[in-house]
Amino acid sequence: MKVMAFVGSPRKAGNTSKVVDAICTGIKENGHSVEIYNLSELDNKGCTGCGACQTKKVEYCAVNDKMTALLAKIADADCIIVGTPVYMAHVSGYTKNFLDRLFTFFIQANDTVRILPGKKYITVTCSGAPAEAFKNVTEYLNMVFGFYFQMVNAGNITAGDMADKDDILSQPEILKQAEEIGRKLN
Ligand SMILES: Cc1cc2nc3c(=O)[nH]c(=O)nc-3n(C[C@H](O)[C@H](O)[C@H](O)COP(=O)(O)O)c2cc1C
Repeated sequence: MKVMAFVGSPRKAGNTSKVVDAICTGIKENGHSVEIYNLSELDNKGCTGCGACQTKKVEYCAVNDKMTALLAKIADADCIIVGTPVYMAHVSGYTKNFLDRLFTFFIQANDTVRILPGKKYITVTCSGAPAEAFKNVTEYLNMVFGFYFQMVNAGNITAGDMADKDDILSQPEILKQAEEIGRKLN
């Protein structure tokens, strides 16, 4: 099983990273391979809305950046993990830019989706406010991956009460839950 994990916080080794790492620890116990990417390092130029992905002028995307190369790898993956901090009451900008680039998997002409349906996904949302405050961010991610892309939900973690980058360490139950989600992935 090939798994790709994307961390939408530019804060290295922060809470989102730690939860994603815990999921990956569980996944690796079953011998699956995981590649972790920090979205702030991908030089993602953002979707330009050029439509080349819809007219099939290109296989995935006409934008010349690292993200385009990753789209082929996403197409080949069995599961993707997306972790985001809550920034201004929503996913971080890095995460939103990433989601926009998945537009290539839509087929606007007949409102269908290619390649992604049936693949698994896991989400992580980390906020400063208590977790209940941003359930809507997790619901948004479920809408994108589960409803739009018809992917299979393999776990959602919505964690809160975190300001400093190590605050998640005082919530070991969340890290345990994350490892368990990873362990159950098959
Ligand atoms: C630019 C910015 C905006 C933020 N906006 C919110 C917010 O709207 N609501 C909230 O609860 N926390 C907010 N936070 C706090 C982060 O969501 C929280 O500290 C989270 O744990 C950061 O994840 P990280 O440790 O992976 O970077 C914000 C933090 C930053 C840096």
